[in-house]
Amino acid sequence: MKIFTTKKSLAGHLEPFRRDGKKIGFVPTMGALHQGHLSLLARGQQLSDEVVCSIFVNPTQFNDPKDLEKYPRPIAADIEKLEQAGCDVLFSPEVNEMYAGNEQWHLDIGEPEQLLEGKFRPGHYQGVTQVVYKLFDIVKPDLAFFGQKDYQQFLVIQKMVELLHLPVELVMCPILRQTDGLAMSSRNIHLSAADRQHALVLSKTLNWLKQKFDPGKIASLRRQCEAMISAEPGVRLEYFEIADGDNLHNADRHTKKIVALVAAQVGNTRLIDNVIISD
Ligand code: PAJ
Repeated sequence: MKIFTTKKSLAGHLEPFRRDGKKIGFVPTMGALHQGHLSLLARGQQLSDEVVCSIFVNPTQFNDPKDLEKYPRPIAADIEKLEQAGCDVLFSPEVNEMYAGNEQWHLDIGEPEQLLEGKFRPGHYQGVTQVVYKLFDIVKPDLAFFGQKDYQQFLVIQKMVELLHLPVELVMCPILRQTDGLAMSSRNIHLSAADRQHALVLSKTLNWLKQKFDPGKIASLRRQCEAMISAEPGVRLEYFEIADGDNLHNADRHTKKIVALVAAQVGNTRLIDNVIISD
């Protein structure tokens, strides 16, 4: 695997591939890699000729400086995982390679920014679009791979691509879970053994909803899900919504594409999860 830390060296490496009409696939991450990230890479390898993975803990998307500080950065182990998985290229820049100073960035993405996560993490998606725009500009991928795990993030990036006419195709990859149902996340390492057990209520509730789903009973099902999660010790529910998968408005009996999304604090760790109920 080739490792680049500067924009220039990465661009120099990719240039001949682009000239030869090869498809460049891109998997942006913040590292602390797990099977979920590697499943994006595997999809990238299926659909592209050269796959670039990036590891960059992007400061502008963190609301809480403590969260940024404690974000795991096991770079040696990550490199090992990517090598094993046969990744072609890793881009792992330092902060000053990505940000020249105090930059201004604002992209009016409209609703997908304000709903759900937007209420609890103001400014978060401005940071995400800022860094993903920069990364797309450096890598110039034909295809970019993102997880359903961050469903709203996918919608936000899709909106940015649409608004700015970026020449990239976005691919959404399914959520990878531990055998007990917990969605894989770099943040799971912060969970104590007890938290980890309590955290299962999120995937269990989403699953229960998917089994029981009845378009005529959305409001009462949502209340039941909220109650199930709120009853779990150590878990503080932030939101549970049954939404239209295209725009995250509340779903009703006529909505075709339905997604249920949840966010909760488990111990000191904020977790999100979702399930696609109908497509
Ligand atoms: P990060 O949280 O590292 O996630 C990188 C990618 O992996 C995202 O597209 C995310 O949705 C996906 N992912 C995370 N957990 C997953 C799981 N259990 N199954 C499948 N895919 C999963 O998302 C970010 O980084 C950043 O916001 C980024 C886009 C890199 C911009 O900084």
